Amino acid sequence: HRDLIALSGLPPHELLFLLDEAEQWVDFNRGAAKHANALAGLTIINAFFENSTRTLLSFEIAGKRLGADVVNMHAAQSSVKKGETLIDTALTLNAMRADAIVIRHAASGAVGLIAGKVDCPVLNAGDGSHEHPTQGLLDALTIRHWLRIKGREEFNGLRVTICGDVLHSRVARSNIAALTALGAQVRVCAPPALMPAQIEALGAEPFADFDAALDCAEVVMMLRLQQERMQGQFIPSPREYRHLYGLTLKRLARAEPDALVMHPGPMNRGVEIDSQVADLAGRSAITRQVELGVAIRMACLEVLTRRQRGVAGWS
Ligand code: CP
Repeated sequence: HRDLIALSGLPPHELLFLLDEAEQWVDFNRGAAKHANALAGLTIINAFFENSTRTLLSFEIAGKRLGADVVNMHAAQSSVKKGETLIDTALTLNAMRADAIVIRHAASGAVGLIAGKVDCPVLNAGDGSHEHPTQGLLDALTIRHWLRIKGREEFNGLRVTICGDVLHSRVARSNIAALTALGAQVRVCAPPALMPAQIEALGAEPFADFDAALDCAEVVMMLRLQQERMQGQFIPSPREYRHLYGLTLKRLARAEPDALVMHPGPMNRGVEIDSQVADLAGRSAITRQVELGVAIRMACLEVLTRRQRGVAGWS
Protein backbone atom coordinates (compact mmCIF):
# COMPACT_ATOMS: atom_id res chain seq x y z
CA HIS A 1 0.00 0.00 0.00
CA ARG A 2 0.94 3.66 -0.23
CA ASP A 3 0.70 6.30 2.48
CA LEU A 4 0.15 10.05 2.15
CA ILE A 5 2.76 11.64 4.38
CA ALA A 6 3.95 14.61 2.30
CA LEU A 7 3.42 16.40 -1.00
CA SER A 8 7.15 17.11 -1.27
CA GLY A 9 8.53 14.64 -3.79
CA LEU A 10 5.20 13.85 -5.46
CA PRO A 11 5.46 14.39 -9.22
CA PRO A 12 2.97 16.77 -10.91
CA HIS A 13 1.03 13.90 -12.51
CA GLU A 14 0.31 12.36 -9.09
CA LEU A 15 -0.77 15.70 -7.62
CA LEU A 16 -3.06 16.29 -10.60
CA PHE A 17 -4.39 12.73 -10.35
CA LEU A 18 -5.54 13.36 -6.76
CA LEU A 19 -7.11 16.71 -7.75
CA ASP A 20 -8.89 15.02 -10.68
CA GLU A 21 -10.16 12.22 -8.42
CA ALA A 22 -11.58 14.82 -6.02
CA GLU A 23 -13.63 16.50 -8.77
CA GLN A 24 -16.30 13.76 -8.73
CA TRP A 25 -16.95 14.45 -5.03
CA VAL A 26 -17.30 18.24 -5.35
CA ASP A 27 -20.80 18.16 -6.87
CA PHE A 28 -21.64 14.99 -4.91
CA ASN A 29 -21.14 16.89 -1.64
CA ARG A 30 -23.45 19.66 -2.88
CA GLY A 31 -26.09 17.35 -4.33
CA ALA A 32 -28.78 15.12 -2.90
CA ALA A 33 -26.67 11.94 -2.79
CA LYS A 34 -24.29 12.65 0.10
CA HIS A 35 -23.72 8.93 0.52
CA ALA A 36 -21.82 6.35 -1.52
CA ASN A 37 -20.73 2.83 -0.60
CA ALA A 38 -17.25 2.68 -2.13
CA LEU A 39 -15.66 2.13 1.31
CA ALA A 40 -18.47 0.02 2.82
CA GLY A 41 -17.08 -2.48 5.35
CA LEU A 42 -13.82 -0.58 5.82
CA THR A 43 -12.76 0.84 9.18
CA ILE A 44 -11.01 4.21 9.26
CA ILE A 45 -9.43 5.48 12.48
CA ASN A 46 -8.82 9.20 12.91
CA ALA A 47 -6.13 9.48 15.60
CA PHE A 48 -5.71 13.14 16.53
CA PHE A 49 -2.98 14.01 19.03
CA GLU A 50 -3.53 17.75 18.42
CA ASN A 51 -6.65 19.89 18.24
CA SER A 52 -8.55 20.23 14.98
CA THR A 53 -11.91 21.39 13.69
CA ARG A 54 -11.69 21.34 9.89
CA THR A 55 -9.36 18.40 9.29
CA LEU A 56 -10.90 16.00 11.83
CA LEU A 57 -14.50 16.74 10.88
CA SER A 58 -13.86 16.65 7.14
CA PHE A 59 -12.01 13.32 7.34
CA GLU A 60 -14.92 11.95 9.42
CA ILE A 61 -17.51 13.29 6.97
CA ALA A 62 -15.45 12.06 4.00
CA GLY A 63 -15.19 8.52 5.37
CA LYS A 64 -18.89 8.39 6.29
CA ARG A 65 -20.02 9.76 2.92
CA LEU A 66 -18.08 6.90 1.30
CA GLY A 67 -19.79 4.34 3.55
CA ALA A 68 -16.85 3.49 5.84
CA ASP A 69 -17.06 2.91 9.57
CA VAL A 70 -15.19 5.89 11.03
CA VAL A 71 -13.81 5.92 14.57
CA ASN A 72 -12.18 8.97 16.16
CA MET A 73 -9.45 8.66 18.78
CA HIS A 74 -8.92 11.87 20.73
CA ALA A 75 -5.51 11.69 22.42
CA ALA A 76 -6.73 13.73 25.39
CA GLN A 77 -9.18 10.93 26.29
CA SER A 78 -6.86 8.04 25.38
CA SER A 79 -4.20 5.99 27.14
CA VAL A 80 -1.59 8.40 25.74
CA LYS A 81 -2.49 10.38 28.90
CA LYS A 82 -1.36 7.34 30.96
CA GLY A 83 2.06 7.42 29.32
CA GLU A 84 1.54 5.00 26.42
CA THR A 85 4.13 5.67 23.72
CA LEU A 86 3.30 6.73 20.19
CA ILE A 87 4.55 3.45 18.74
CA ASP A 88 2.58 1.34 21.25
CA THR A 89 -0.50 3.40 20.41
CA ALA A 90 0.10 2.76 16.71
CA LEU A 91 0.55 -0.98 17.27
CA THR A 92 -2.72 -0.99 19.25
CA LEU A 93 -4.60 0.69 16.39
CA ASN A 94 -2.97 -1.75 13.95
CA ALA A 95 -4.12 -4.76 16.00
CA MET A 96 -7.70 -3.56 15.61
CA ARG A 97 -7.31 -4.11 11.84
CA ALA A 98 -8.01 -0.59 10.67
CA ASP A 99 -8.09 -0.23 6.89
CA ALA A 100 -6.69 3.31 7.02
CA ILE A 101 -5.36 5.50 9.83
CA VAL A 102 -5.47 9.30 9.68
CA ILE A 103 -3.05 10.90 12.12
CA ARG A 104 -2.38 14.42 13.39
CA HIS A 105 0.57 14.88 15.74
CA ALA A 106 2.51 17.82 17.18
CA ALA A 107 5.90 16.29 16.30
CA SER A 108 7.33 16.59 12.77
CA GLY A 109 8.01 13.10 11.46
CA ALA A 110 5.70 11.32 13.92
CA VAL A 111 3.19 10.32 11.23
CA GLY A 112 5.90 8.91 8.97
CA LEU A 113 7.22 6.92 11.94
CA ILE A 114 3.78 5.37 12.55
CA ALA A 115 3.39 4.59 8.84
CA GLY A 116 6.39 2.30 9.11
CA LYS A 117 4.81 0.33 11.97
CA VAL A 118 1.30 -0.45 10.71
CA ASP A 119 -0.11 -2.61 7.91
CA CYS A 120 -2.62 -0.15 6.42
CA PRO A 121 -2.33 3.19 4.59
CA VAL A 122 -1.55 6.15 6.84
CA LEU A 123 -2.69 9.67 5.93
CA ASN A 124 -0.92 12.64 7.49
CA ALA A 125 -3.46 15.12 8.88
CA GLY A 126 -0.64 17.47 9.92
CA ASP A 127 2.63 16.61 11.71
CA GLY A 128 4.29 19.45 13.62
CA SER A 129 5.91 21.94 11.27
CA HIS A 130 6.51 19.32 8.57
CA GLU A 131 3.53 18.84 6.21
CA HIS A 132 -0.24 18.91 5.94
CA PRO A 133 -0.67 17.20 2.56
CA THR A 134 -4.47 17.16 2.33
CA GLN A 135 -4.49 20.91 3.11
CA GLY A 136 -1.99 21.49 0.28
CA LEU A 137 -4.20 19.45 -2.06
CA LEU A 138 -7.43 21.23 -1.09
CA ASP A 139 -5.69 24.57 -1.55
CA ALA A 140 -4.48 23.51 -5.02
CA LEU A 141 -8.02 22.34 -5.89
CA THR A 142 -9.45 25.69 -4.71
CA ILE A 143 -6.94 27.58 -6.86
CA ARG A 144 -7.64 25.34 -9.88
CA HIS A 145 -11.40 25.96 -9.64
CA TRP A 146 -10.73 29.71 -9.54
CA LEU A 147 -8.32 29.49 -12.49
CA ARG A 148 -10.92 27.58 -14.52
CA ILE A 149 -13.53 30.29 -13.88
CA LYS A 150 -11.00 32.69 -15.41
CA GLY A 151 -10.53 30.36 -18.39
CA ARG A 152 -7.08 29.16 -17.29
CA GLU A 153 -6.24 25.48 -16.96
CA GLU A 154 -2.61 25.67 -15.82
CA PHE A 155 -0.82 26.66 -12.63
CA ASN A 156 2.17 27.59 -14.80
CA GLY A 157 3.53 31.04 -13.90
CA LEU A 158 0.78 31.69 -11.31
CA ARG A 159 2.02 34.25 -8.78
CA VAL A 160 1.21 33.07 -5.23
CA THR A 161 2.20 35.00 -2.08
CA ILE A 162 2.17 33.19 1.27
CA CYS A 163 2.55 35.39 4.37
CA GLY A 164 2.80 34.66 8.07
CA ASP A 165 4.49 32.21 10.41
CA VAL A 166 6.21 30.23 7.66
CA LEU A 167 8.74 28.72 10.08
CA HIS A 168 6.11 26.69 11.93
CA SER A 169 3.71 26.18 9.03
CA ARG A 170 3.14 22.67 7.70
CA VAL A 171 0.51 24.28 5.47
CA ALA A 172 3.17 26.50 3.88
CA ARG A 173 5.48 23.53 3.28
CA SER A 174 2.79 21.43 1.62
CA ASN A 175 1.63 24.37 -0.48
CA ILE A 176 5.15 25.31 -1.57
CA ALA A 177 5.81 21.67 -2.55
CA ALA A 178 2.59 21.28 -4.54
CA LEU A 179 2.42 24.71 -6.16
CA THR A 180 6.07 24.83 -7.26
CA ALA A 181 5.78 21.29 -8.65
CA LEU A 182 2.74 22.46 -10.66
CA GLY A 183 4.69 25.43 -12.05
CA ALA A 184 3.56 28.34 -9.84
CA GLN A 185 5.92 31.09 -8.63
CA VAL A 186 5.70 31.11 -4.84
CA ARG A 187 6.80 34.11 -2.74
CA VAL A 188 6.87 33.85 1.02
CA CYS A 189 6.87 36.71 3.51
CA ALA A 190 7.45 36.38 7.25
CA PRO A 191 8.90 38.27 10.20
CA PRO A 192 12.68 37.58 10.19
CA ALA A 193 12.44 35.20 13.17
CA LEU A 194 9.70 33.21 11.44
CA MET A 195 11.37 32.75 8.03
CA PRO A 196 13.01 29.31 7.59
CA ALA A 197 16.74 29.56 6.77
CA GLN A 198 16.55 27.23 3.77
CA ILE A 199 13.40 28.59 2.17
CA GLU A 200 14.99 29.03 -1.29
CA ALA A 201 15.91 25.34 -1.28
CA LEU A 202 12.15 24.61 -1.16
CA GLY A 203 11.71 26.66 -4.35
CA ALA A 204 10.12 29.76 -2.80
CA GLU A 205 11.35 33.36 -2.98
CA PRO A 206 11.66 35.05 0.44
CA PHE A 207 10.45 38.61 1.12
CA ALA A 208 10.80 40.67 4.31
CA ASP A 209 8.44 43.40 3.08
CA PHE A 210 4.80 42.31 2.68
CA ASP A 211 3.91 45.18 0.32
CA ALA A 212 6.70 44.11 -2.06
CA ALA A 213 5.65 40.47 -1.79
CA LEU A 214 2.08 41.41 -2.72
CA ASP A 215 2.96 43.29 -5.92
CA CYS A 216 1.03 41.64 -8.78
CA ALA A 217 0.15 38.59 -6.66
CA GLU A 218 -2.73 36.55 -8.09
CA VAL A 219 -3.26 34.42 -4.98
CA VAL A 220 -2.64 35.65 -1.41
CA MET A 221 -2.50 32.98 1.29
CA MET A 222 -2.36 34.14 4.90
CA LEU A 223 -1.06 32.04 7.81
CA ARG A 224 -1.77 32.11 11.53
CA LEU A 225 0.94 32.88 14.12
CA GLN A 226 1.36 29.47 15.75
CA GLN A 227 1.91 30.57 19.35
CA GLU A 228 1.82 26.92 20.47
CA ARG A 229 5.02 26.18 18.51
CA MET A 230 6.98 29.34 19.41
CA GLN A 231 10.29 28.75 21.17
CA GLY A 232 11.35 32.24 22.14
CA GLN A 233 11.24 33.75 18.63
CA PHE A 234 10.80 37.50 18.67
CA ILE A 235 7.50 38.46 17.13
CA PRO A 236 5.82 41.86 17.02
CA SER A 237 2.79 42.59 19.19
CA PRO A 238 -0.58 41.81 17.55
CA ARG A 239 -1.04 45.50 16.68
CA GLU A 240 2.48 45.79 15.16
CA TYR A 241 2.01 42.47 13.40
CA ARG A 242 -1.17 43.69 11.71
CA HIS A 243 0.64 46.89 10.70
CA LEU A 244 3.56 44.99 9.12
CA TYR A 245 2.08 41.68 7.95
CA GLY A 246 -1.71 41.91 8.25
CA LEU A 247 -3.85 41.63 5.11
CA THR A 248 -5.98 44.77 5.15
CA LEU A 249 -8.20 45.99 2.32
CA LYS A 250 -5.68 48.74 1.59
CA ARG A 251 -2.85 46.26 1.35
CA LEU A 252 -4.84 43.80 -0.78
CA ALA A 253 -5.06 46.58 -3.39
CA ARG A 254 -1.33 46.02 -4.11
CA ALA A 255 -2.15 42.55 -5.47
CA GLU A 256 -3.92 41.91 -8.79
CA PRO A 257 -7.42 43.46 -8.83
CA ASP A 258 -9.14 40.04 -8.68
CA ALA A 259 -6.53 38.28 -6.50
CA LEU A 260 -7.86 35.27 -4.59
CA VAL A 261 -7.63 35.46 -0.77
CA MET A 262 -6.97 32.21 1.11
CA HIS A 263 -6.43 31.15 4.72
CA PRO A 264 -6.29 27.53 5.97
CA GLY A 265 -7.94 28.47 9.28
CA PRO A 266 -8.23 28.89 12.14
CA MET A 267 -7.92 32.67 11.63
CA ASN A 268 -6.87 35.35 14.05
CA ARG A 269 -9.14 38.08 12.70
CA GLY A 270 -7.64 41.54 13.09
CA VAL A 271 -4.10 40.15 13.36
CA GLU A 272 -2.97 38.39 10.13
CA ILE A 273 -6.20 39.16 8.27
CA ASP A 274 -8.90 41.80 8.67
CA SER A 275 -12.54 40.68 8.73
CA GLN A 276 -13.26 43.00 5.78
CA VAL A 277 -10.84 40.86 3.71
CA ALA A 278 -11.68 37.44 5.20
CA ASP A 279 -15.37 38.00 4.41
CA LEU A 280 -14.88 39.76 1.07
CA ALA A 281 -17.50 38.31 -1.27
CA GLY A 282 -16.17 37.07 -4.58
CA ARG A 283 -12.56 37.29 -3.42
CA SER A 284 -12.21 35.27 -0.21
CA ALA A 285 -12.03 31.51 -0.80
CA ILE A 286 -11.84 30.61 2.90
CA THR A 287 -15.15 28.75 3.21
CA ARG A 288 -14.67 27.27 -0.28
CA GLN A 289 -11.36 25.79 0.95
CA VAL A 290 -13.23 24.04 3.76
CA GLU A 291 -15.90 22.77 1.34
CA LEU A 292 -13.32 21.37 -1.10
CA GLY A 293 -11.46 19.80 1.83
CA VAL A 294 -14.20 17.19 2.13
CA ALA A 295 -13.88 16.27 -1.58
CA ILE A 296 -10.08 16.02 -1.33
CA ARG A 297 -10.29 13.79 1.75
CA MET A 298 -12.86 11.56 0.06
CA ALA A 299 -10.49 11.20 -2.91
CA CYS A 300 -7.46 10.45 -0.72
CA LEU A 301 -9.32 7.83 1.34
CA GLU A 302 -10.78 6.19 -1.77
CA VAL A 303 -7.49 6.13 -3.70
CA LEU A 304 -5.32 4.93 -0.81
CA THR A 305 -7.67 2.06 0.13
CA ARG A 306 -7.97 0.67 -3.40
CA ARG A 307 -5.65 -2.23 -2.63
CA GLN A 308 -7.79 -3.37 0.35
CA ARG A 309 -10.84 -3.29 -1.92
CA GLY A 310 -9.18 -5.28 -4.70
CA VAL A 311 -9.14 -2.26 -7.01
CA ALA A 312 -5.92 -1.44 -8.90
CA GLY A 313 -3.88 0.74 -6.56
CA TRP A 314 -2.45 4.23 -6.90
CA SER A 315 0.22 3.82 -9.54
N1 CP B 1 -6.61 24.01 8.41
C1 CP B 1 -6.63 23.14 9.44
O1 CP B 1 -5.84 22.19 9.49
O2 CP B 1 -7.57 23.40 10.39
P1 CP B 1 -7.82 22.52 11.72
O3 CP B 1 -6.61 22.70 12.60
O4 CP B 1 -9.09 23.08 12.32
O5 CP B 1 -7.96 21.09 11.30
